[in-house]
Amino acid sequence: MKPIIAQLASRLADAFASALGVPADTIDPTIRTTTDPKFGDYQSNAAMALAKRAKTNPRQLAEKAVAAAKLDDLTLPPEIAGPGFINLRLRPEFVSQAIAAIAADERMGVEQAAAPESVVIDFSSPNISKEMHIGHLRSTVLGDVLSRVLEFIGHRVFRQNHVGDWGTQFGMLLAHLSELPAGSAAPELSDLEKFYRNAKKRFDADPEFATKARKTVALLQGGQFREQWQQFLNISLAHCQANYKRLGVTLQPEDVRGESAYNDDLPKVIEALDKAGLLQVSEGAKCVFLDGYANKEGNPLPFIVQKSDGGYLYATTDLAALRYRVATFNPTRILYVTDVRQSHHFGYMFAVARKAGFAPENVQLVHVAFGTIQGPDGKPFKTKSGENVKLADVLDEAEQRARKIVEDKNADLPEEQKQAVARAVGIGAVKYFDLSNNRISDYRFDWDQMLALTGNTAPYLQYAYSRVRSIFRKGGLSDTQVAAIANAPALAHDKERALAIHLLRFGEQLSAVLDDYRPNILTDYLYELAIRFSGFYEGCPVLKADEPTRTERLLLCHLTSRVMKQGLSLLGIDVMEEM
Ligand code: ARG
Repeated sequence: MKPIIAQLASRLADAFASALGVPADTIDPTIRTTTDPKFGDYQSNAAMALAKRAKTNPRQLAEKAVAAAKLDDLTLPPEIAGPGFINLRLRPEFVSQAIAAIAADERMGVEQAAAPESVVIDFSSPNISKEMHIGHLRSTVLGDVLSRVLEFIGHRVFRQNHVGDWGTQFGMLLAHLSELPAGSAAPELSDLEKFYRNAKKRFDADPEFATKARKTVALLQGGQFREQWQQFLNISLAHCQANYKRLGVTLQPEDVRGESAYNDDLPKVIEALDKAGLLQVSEGAKCVFLDGYANKEGNPLPFIVQKSDGGYLYATTDLAALRYRVATFNPTRILYVTDVRQSHHFGYMFAVARKAGFAPENVQLVHVAFGTIQGPDGKPFKTKSGENVKLADVLDEAEQRARKIVEDKNADLPEEQKQAVARAVGIGAVKYFDLSNNRISDYRFDWDQMLALTGNTAPYLQYAYSRVRSIFRKGGLSDTQVAAIANAPALAHDKERALAIHLLRFGEQLSAVLDDYRPNILTDYLYELAIRFSGFYEGCPVLKADEPTRTERLLLCHLTSRVMKQGLSLLGIDVMEEM
């Protein structure tokens, strides 16, 4: 089903076009859902801006547009309010029929993309000289959700885990590794964090070791030490994969294409930049200078691609990766899910790539930026001793805390189920809390808030889901029996209608998620769905209602649970039939 908001928009665009005597594609009818049912279900405030443009009176323009609008099958006669707001209320018959249609649809009315695209999405991408820490949570979780939503809409997604597996730290690590007595490497490497710390301690304290570490980088780059390096990578990547699995993130080992994969391409990038006439030497380093990029003093800012000692940089690798992705996946968009502090890097990198012809104009390049996670005190999130908080430790604690809740709420569950619920609730809470924050904002990591059983949290939604399912089960209809219901429900009660209208918005909200890559639109949607379901259940008896209302209400319960489950699954959050 085409989203209702899109149907209304196209009808109103036509109406304004005929009222103004201009083509419809020049008009944005700015339709929004209303928060107060007093103003209908949807509202357009386009008349004000359009009237200004055409130098006419907005209220009169709204009246003319409403007179010209063909909306009868969708809405009741529109109302005009204030200076020219157009309030639209969906027709009851239309709502009933639309609900029957999405209930009969496997996709619950969510349209597939008319033109499926190939989308590359670079996410998670940790530096793997250490274990993943809390700072990697956002990229990993956001990228995963965006991948899932894109795929659900019908696009082809190429996940790219651009891990940092190259560079100077590896010299230090390999030098340390090479000095360990035979046989002790494996146990030492079981705690990468400690291994890194020990290596760094020596690097800082022992100049001889530091020299050796630097030499080791050069040797590694020259082709030696590859076996030890590979051994280190295997261990480190296995850690990442274990985190992904626990998190229920869709990244697979074959999605890893680390920085080192581009080593051979780096000289070619320099050559191509040179051919394009973009290369300049500044203080011995090879750079690109583009207009519009300046430092605070107003001096041109270089985009450095090769240092004076011949070494390449993060930026060079990113240009190589971009070329590879364009050539390999033929994408329409490439998304980079990294922290907002890298926006200058990506902005400049995209501009250089365009100039150099690495990224044709029809490939969209998007930096999907996000803010930082702060500790409960609002300061950077660190352990008591000032170290990075390991992601695996956070997940352990999440499960332990959720386990306590399960004990309190439902002590009689069999042990196995308790564990499963604790896992789903704990991990779900961490992910959902992250996703429900606007991605650009920083947020404070707050255990009590994310594990609360009321409010906009995963546990609340997971409980809401199992509650809906339990009501449905008591109704005595099977999933197949519900699917066979052919009659459109009457939806005579206000609370039924409010729930139904929200169910009809699922597809529209998913496409809004992709407009600006904001999963919090989906979390808000699901939270509102749970609230409306509660309102419905309080206001409308289900099991005790007379027929045909009873069956119609069971159908609403069933559809609600399906949308909840699908929505949470797009967020990578598990639900349970019973908790
Ligand atoms: N490894 C980088 C970091 O930890 C993130 C890489 C993001 N992707 C990229 N293509 N630059 O900050």
